[in-house]
Amino acid sequence: MYLLDVKCIFAAFIKSEIMSNGLLQGKKGIIFGALDDKSIAWKVAEKCHEQGAKIILTNAPVALRFGGIYELAEKLNTKVVGADATKVEDLENLLKESMEFLGGKVDFILHSIGMSLNVRKKREYTDLNYEWMQTTFDISAISFHKLMQTAMKLDAVNDWGSIVALSYMAAQRTFPDYNEMAEAKSLLESFARSFGYHYGKKAKVRVNTISQSPTVTTAGSGVKGFGDFFDYADKMSPLGNASAEACADYCVTMFSDLTRMVTMQNLFHDGGFSSMGMAPEILDK
Ligand SMILES: NC(=O)c1ccc[n+]([C@@H]2O[C@H](COP(=O)([O-])OP(=O)(O)OC[C@H]3O[C@@H](n4cnc5c(N)ncnc54)[C@H](O)[C@@H]3O)[C@@H](O)[C@H]2O)c1
Repeated sequence: MYLLDVKCIFAAFIKSEIMSNGLLQGKKGIIFGALDDKSIAWKVAEKCHEQGAKIILTNAPVALRFGGIYELAEKLNTKVVGADATKVEDLENLLKESMEFLGGKVDFILHSIGMSLNVRKKREYTDLNYEWMQTTFDISAISFHKLMQTAMKLDAVNDWGSIVALSYMAAQRTFPDYNEMAEAKSLLESFARSFGYHYGKKAKVRVNTISQSPTVTTAGSGVKGFGDFFDYADKMSPLGNASAEACADYCVTMFSDLTRMVTMQNLFHDGGFSSMGMAPEILDK
């Protein structure tokens, strides 16, 4: 029994040694959007920490009350700074506190934020509430511009830094139940291109979006028919759906120095889904 325990500990040690190759050693970052342990941002925070980065966690003040973000902060030996990403003064405060806590400008930022009131309240795409739509755009897309504009004004990101936001393929193609979030993601991806130009010229900061497979999280599962769609995408993709952990690995590479010349891109991370036309697996019932 004792021997077994020792073997397990040894195996876990080897595994964690193999998993960390110090890709983010010495880097500092801010991670938005870790609500609970299913959140993509949660996995990104864990992997960035594993790879040697020092990070700050942030989420909307209301979300801090529900999720387990403080538990994650304790595990990663860091702190949480609340910020509503739609409020510029919150973003200013977050960036200033981050630079103070981390001891200087940051090297990377993850924007992992999405919320649609019309989806949440089950409004059909042809019967949307426009005030809610504006809130959706503000939270899910304009917050990305606000974040980058605030960071640029405060000179909060180091040269050759990397900023990533998470997107979804409904920005390019129609997925009827994704509702107004399709337009929110199109806007988000456009901000990455347009701001990517300005941030690249000013400070060699790169800006990209990662277009992720359907993933079982609070935001993901809120989309109507998510379970069926998840299975469909899994069958359509030759590699299957990309998990939240795999997305976190991709984010790590985007924050590392190995991707210094990648900017203004929307990068599909979807097991091949976006290039498929037809998959026999879907027809074979
Ligand atoms: N889950 C999927 O299927 C999927 C697929 C592709 C892309 N994405 C995107 O990934 C990102 C993360 O979502 P997730 O799936 O991990 O779900 P999640 O629900 O765990 O994360 C969404 C986060 O947005 C935060 N948020 C909402 N309003 C905010 C505000 N005003 N200020 C700051 N934060 C706010 C929430 O508190 C939450 O932490 C989103 O942009 C989502 O659209 C998700």
